[in-house]
Amino acid sequence: MADEGKSEMTLPASDDHKKYNETRRTFLKQSSLLTAVALTPPGMLQIVELEEKVDEQFESVKVTLEINGETKELSVEPRETLLDLLRERLDLTGTKKGCDYGQCGACTVHVDGQRINACLAFVIMQEGKKITTIEGLSKGATLHPMQEAFMKHDGFQCGYCTPGQIMSAVACIQEGHANSKEEIREYMSGNLCRCGAYPNIVKAIEEVKNGGAKG
Ligand code: FES
Ligand code: FES
Repeated sequence: MADEGKSEMTLPASDDHKKYNETRRTFLKQSSLLTAVALTPPGMLQIVELEEKVDEQFESVKVTLEINGETKELSVEPRETLLDLLRERLDLTGTKKGCDYGQCGACTVHVDGQRINACLAFVIMQEGKKITTIEGLSKGATLHPMQEAFMKHDGFQCGYCTPGQIMSAVACIQEGHANSKEEIREYMSGNLCRCGAYPNIVKAIEEVKNGGAKG
């Protein structure tokens, strides 16, 4: 009897108990949210707001490019890189992503005849320009002489860096920077090869410079 009396004294009636728990939970949730907002530095809140505004303002931009001889009208996000556009949206996966920081040259393509690292180029900066990727270098089934020379001289092993090497090699000759082994090494130094195929890459470039590869 003494126990029954005690439980009646300490526990609220069941409906009241539920209401009490709900109110308590709501209060705790709201106060945690308020505490989190209060503890976030004001600068951080401003950055988040700014990012949201930029996203709203520049959701997509229209650009027209010529890629491997085909005109493309595209809607792109301002932060989209040429490399991501080529690989992720246009399925031109010959251009490789190595470092994504302009350090390895795996993503080399030509823009208006100049070699660039596609990972460092925003698409919106390329309006009206002509892009050539490794897929656009050959003429149908006929390989470019530089592609033939790489094959003839084993200028690759795993092949991951090879599209970038070939695009750079073609540009290296066009720029007039392939007059000696030393010059070729210097002007190809932005293209890294983890397999160490460098001597054979230099041979391939020399051969094309001196009259083309007939393999
Ligand atoms: S992926 Fe562009 S330089 Fe490495
Ligand atoms: S061939 Fe393998 S990284 Fe160059």
